Parts: sequence; C-alpha cells; structure tokens
Amino acid sequence: MKRYSTYLFLVIIGGFLTVYSSGCTAPNKQSGQNNAEEAQIDTLISKMTLKEKIGMIHGNSFFTSAGVKKLGIPEMHYSDGPFGVREELHPNSWQPLGITSDSATYLPTGSALAATWDTTMAHDYGKVLGQEARERGKDMILGPAVNIDRNPNGGRTFEFLTEDPYLDAQMTTGYIEGVQAQGVASCVKHYVANNQEANRISVDEIVGQRALHEIYMPAFKAAVQKAHVDAVMAAYNKVNGSYCSANKYLLDNVLRNDWGFKGMVISDWGGVHSTVKAANAGLDVEMGSGTDYNKYYFATPLLDSVKAGKVSEQVINNKVRRILWVMYKNHMIGGGTRKKGSINTPEHHQIAYNVASGSIVLLKNSKDLLPLNASKLKSIAVIGENAKLKQAHLGFGAGVKAQYEITPLAGLEHLLKGKVAIHYAQGYKEAYKKSKSQGAKHVPIDTPNQKLIREAVKTAKSADAAIIVAGNTRTYETEGADRSSLALPFGENQLIKEVTAANPNTVVVIISGAPVELGQALKETSAMVWSGYNGSEGGHALADVLFGNVDPSGRLPFTFPKSLKDTPSFALGTYPGKNDTTQYKEGILVGYRWYDTKKIQPLFPFGYGLSYTKFQFSDVKTDQSSYSKEGKINVSVNLKNTGSYLGKETVQVYVHAVDPSVMMPDKQLKAFGKVQLEPGQEKTVQLTIPVKDLAYYDANKKQWVVLSGKYQMMVGASSRDIRGTANITVQ
Ligand code: BGC
Repeated sequence: MKRYSTYLFLVIIGGFLTVYSSGCTAPNKQSGQNNAEEAQIDTLISKMTLKEKIGMIHGNSFFTSAGVKKLGIPEMHYSDGPFGVREELHPNSWQPLGITSDSATYLPTGSALAATWDTTMAHDYGKVLGQEARERGKDMILGPAVNIDRNPNGGRTFEFLTEDPYLDAQMTTGYIEGVQAQGVASCVKHYVANNQEANRISVDEIVGQRALHEIYMPAFKAAVQKAHVDAVMAAYNKVNGSYCSANKYLLDNVLRNDWGFKGMVISDWGGVHSTVKAANAGLDVEMGSGTDYNKYYFATPLLDSVKAGKVSEQVINNKVRRILWVMYKNHMIGGGTRKKGSINTPEHHQIAYNVASGSIVLLKNSKDLLPLNASKLKSIAVIGENAKLKQAHLGFGAGVKAQYEITPLAGLEHLLKGKVAIHYAQGYKEAYKKSKSQGAKHVPIDTPNQKLIREAVKTAKSADAAIIVAGNTRTYETEGADRSSLALPFGENQLIKEVTAANPNTVVVIISGAPVELGQALKETSAMVWSGYNGSEGGHALADVLFGNVDPSGRLPFTFPKSLKDTPSFALGTYPGKNDTTQYKEGILVGYRWYDTKKIQPLFPFGYGLSYTKFQFSDVKTDQSSYSKEGKINVSVNLKNTGSYLGKETVQVYVHAVDPSVMMPDKQLKAFGKVQLEPGQEKTVQLTIPVKDLAYYDANKKQWVVLSGKYQMMVGASSRDIRGTANITVQ
C-alpha cells in the first residue's frame, strides 16, 4: 500500500474556501424524483391492500422490512453503521450468522473521524461505507451517529462526532453525501438529544428550545437540507415529555414542515411505545428485536387502528410513499441501474489509513521527544494491553467484523522491521468489578498490577525508548452504559509513573473515543498522543505519526476537562437525572461554550492539537468592517509553516458577540479549514461566514435572529489559542 507517498503529496484542504452555514437556512425541499415517478408511486400505492402497506412499515426480521412481491417492491435491508458494515446476523436474533463472507473495512470510529476536521475525509469515509454496503446487499446504512457529546462520560461518545454543532454538521454532511453517492440510503441517528446511555430507553430529556435548535439539531438539519439524507432514526429517549418516536413537534413540525424532509423516519430498535400516537406523529417504520413481528405497534395493532378510524389510511399511504421515494431514489424500484459495490478494496483500506493518520492528536511534546528517530534507536519497549488489543468487535452494539485490524504493536513491527528491536510488556490488565447498577463490564478494577508493572519497568529500562499504549477500550466505552468516571482505568497511572521514571524517553499513547482525565499522567510524561479507535489501519497510522512519517494533524473534537465535576451536567447536578428526567440546565453552554463562558480551565481545549512543525498566523482581517444581515463575512489569515516538517493546520474561526443583548456563549465555531503547507510555505486562507450564521434561536419568536452590533472574528488553532481577531459590525 502506498501509504506515505499518497500522504506526502496529496494536498487535502477540508472545506477550505467553502461556505459553511449551520443555522438558519430557509426551508429547502429535498431533491426528489420527477412527476412521472411520483405518479408511479401513486399507482403502486393504489394497487396495495392495507395489509400490504402495513407490512412495509414494520420490521419483518431484525434488519429488514417487507416489500410487496406482486408489485416488484423488494424488502429494505438495513445495516449498522456507523463505522463499518456490520456482520451478518441471524434474521431473528442478535446471533452472528458465523459466515466467512461478511468481513468489512473497519473505519475509525466517529470521534476519530471528527478529529480530522476534514470534510473531504468524511465524504471518503461515507463512500467506503456506501460501497461496502452495496456489495453486501444493504439498502440503508444506519449512520452517521451525530448526537452531541453533552456528557464526556457518555458511552457512545466514541461513536458520536463532537461537542460542537458546527463541526458536527459539516462532518455529517460529508459522510452522508459519501454514502448516498453510492446508491445507498444513509440514516442519520439518533434524532434527538440521545446524549446519555443511562436510562436511555425511558429518560425524558428536558431541553429548552434554544438549546435544541442551536446545539442538538444542527447536524440533523444539515443532514436534511444540505446532504439530502434519505432517512432519520428517532432516538430511544423522550424529549420534553414525548418519546422521540412519537414526538409530533420533532417529527412533523420541525423535521418535515420546517426543514422539508421527504425521506423515511425509522425507529431505533425497540424504540416505539405506542401505535396511534407514533403513527400520527410521523414515524414511518418501526424496527425492533422482538420476533413476533405481527405484534409490533405498527403491525396488527396499526391495522386495527386504521380499521377503527383512529389512524387514517392517508397517513399510512404517506409512510409507504416515503419508503417508495427512498427506493426510487436508490434505484431499488423504477428501473435505472444500481451502482455496483465493492468491499475491502485497497482504496477502502487507504481511506481508513488516511482518516486514522489524519485524526491522531499530539497532546504534549515538551522535550521534542517526538517524532522518534528510527535510525537513532536500537530497541524500543512497547508496553500496554492496548498495543495488542483488536477493538473492532468489542463492546455492546454495532461493531465490525474487520477483515483485518492492525494493532499499534503490529503497526510498529511493520514499520521498524529489521531496523529497531521491539520488546513487549503487558503492563496492566483490563479487568472489571461486578456491579449491579453498571452491568458486568463497566466498573474497572483500578488497582495497579505490580507484577506487570515490574516487568514493564524492566523492559523499559533496557530499551532506548518506551511507548506505553494505554487508555480505554471498546469494552469499557460502549453503547448501553456510561462511564462513572473519566479516570484512566486499570491502574494505568501507576504504570505510566513507574515506566517514565525508569526510562525518560517514554511516549504515552492514550487510546480512547472520549475525553479521559490525564492530569496525573501528564505530570509524569513529556510526550503524549491521543488516538481514537482507529480502524483497520490504526496501527500503521500510529506508527507513522510516532516516527514522523506523518505530522499529527488531528485536533480535538471535544474538550478534555480536568475533571468530570467541571463538566456542565455534573457541575449542575443534572446527570443522569432524577425520576427518569434530565434537565438540560446548562442550556446552550455545552462543551467549550461552557468552559469558556464560565472561565473554567480545561486540561485540553476543544480544537487543540500540536504538530511537529510550527504554524504562524498573521494578518487576520475581514473583507469589510460592516455587514448587512444578508451579507457574507470573508475572513482571511496568512498562515505560514515556520518549522521544518510538512504539516497541516486547522484554521478555526470563532465568533464572539460584543455586549450582546441576549446571553451568548463566549465564542462559537463558525468556520474552519484544514490546510497543508511545506516547510517555509505560506498561504492566505479565506473562510466565509454568512451573517445569518451568527443568529441565535429566539424561543419566543420561534425563529432565528441576528443581533445587530459588534462581533469579533477570532482566528486560531483551538478555542483557547486565538492568534488574531478582526472586529466587524452587523447593521
Ligand atoms: C442503537 C442503534 C442501532 C440499532 C440497531 C440500537 O440499540 O441505538 O444505533 O442502529 O440498535 O443495531
């Protein structure tokens, strides 16, 4: 595989010079088929019995819903998502089929994808999923999973993208466009406010209108209006009193009427709790994991409700119409050729590598220990279970049966073969206490294993350098359970302390999909790197970053707080809620919006990441000093690579409202662009922000409002590293 050469000579500029908008775009009907197709859909519906229609709107196996044979309408085949096409399961159980032809490319999980800050990579990622889904005979990928990281301990933070709605919306758009360009429907999930695993099936999330529209909805809105997503999955939880799957406000008022969504709304698996309410609220398809499919709320009970006049047949027709619309669009019916798929191709593996290597974040390098120089090392110690652990298939919920997964140790071995000797020591052991409240696998045993530490110290002492690969695992971070702490598990802090004391040339690699408390470990070490669950090629990517073949260009998609108690929901005592109800008291102050507004120092801020090279930002300016509300703000900055490595910087533009008449967060991300520069090279980076994107959501008026007044365009390398500011006025 030509990994390095492709990286070195490819200029990837994710979203550079692109106009982004997160907020108040006018309703825009999704692109649909022509009138002739609409007439054909009408004809098909007119030929169906009520029973056949009902058959199409609920699961008839765990991952299919029925077609109508006599009319040539096929079944719909769904697949998880979101980071690889899931292995084949028995039709009526969660048991794997155990066949050999269902392996797939394991892509880096959501937070790693977001850490690339590269919309082109998100598109490529979607393309891999779409092509592999086609090859495996799937019609819809259940992804992306785009819920906002409200709680850094949330079990699915690894699967979700980020704490920021703007970054969320941009990456979501790229992903969906990539999937759907392959003739496969994408299902964006979980709509909406599915932000904790604790009581996720029943919890009522009490979210203010402003927070809903500004924080939790933008990625879904972009999915509909920009990426023209085919399907939306209603979340398990309730929002403001109603289950998402039966929430008329969410499904009818916002999604369909305000945003113009034409596609299908499907339930999360087992996420329906009513027949008439859900049917009339706008849910189209009920999926689940009960095997008596006739008993589903949208099966016989719905048939009976139509007969009893509680749900009109027109409502059922509309549901069928939306399914047929998705089928037409993807050439499942109506002629036209479906695209051919492909799986596990060299291109797919290259994309997995590109995303992995573009996502790794250099957290600390205070003594320039990194990059390691292979020609100066005779031996290295590689320490830690995560160095050997294959993660693709761990944890509860969707995983991937990876065709292969390069572990960190394997990646280092491939890179250093014949050049540097590698000595491995386990260092710590992943183990859990039994716990009734948290399930079997979620309370880690944190007592250091002294025997393993002694071995690791010995191994580290005799090597020229050591690499500790620690952090969380996909068993510990999982769907269905949140972590009760952000601490490094399994006694890893002690291991880091003792190994670093034994060999000062120790690099610490933290593998996790979510923030971890690293205060203690940072005291011990001068070099630390964060890697997400980085897919089939993760080990190659990590080795290339550690040894300087690739400059680390990942930037954090979430804040690493110093401690869980600094986070909004813990500080305000709203997690996991009381009596199955969680009050979103922090409102719009989620993620860095909270830390920056409340002046709480994080460990690592949102958007943070170092490079081996240095970037100088200068001459931050806007094209005008005053704009109308319809205007576009062109922000420019001169970016120069003043170091000696080829590298990529992510230019981030945050907007600060000066003395606003309503509460605004200290700053909000409104544009970004990832730019590659050779040593010594400089470029003027231009980013455009439509003035309407400065709007806040006025809950009383139920509309987006741009405040007149002064704003600062803050350009920098993270939310806490602003390198230049331009002042503007909005008339
Ligand atoms: C998850 C969804 C997933 C579905 C089917 C649910 O438990 O919340 O994200 O798509 O299962 O596996």
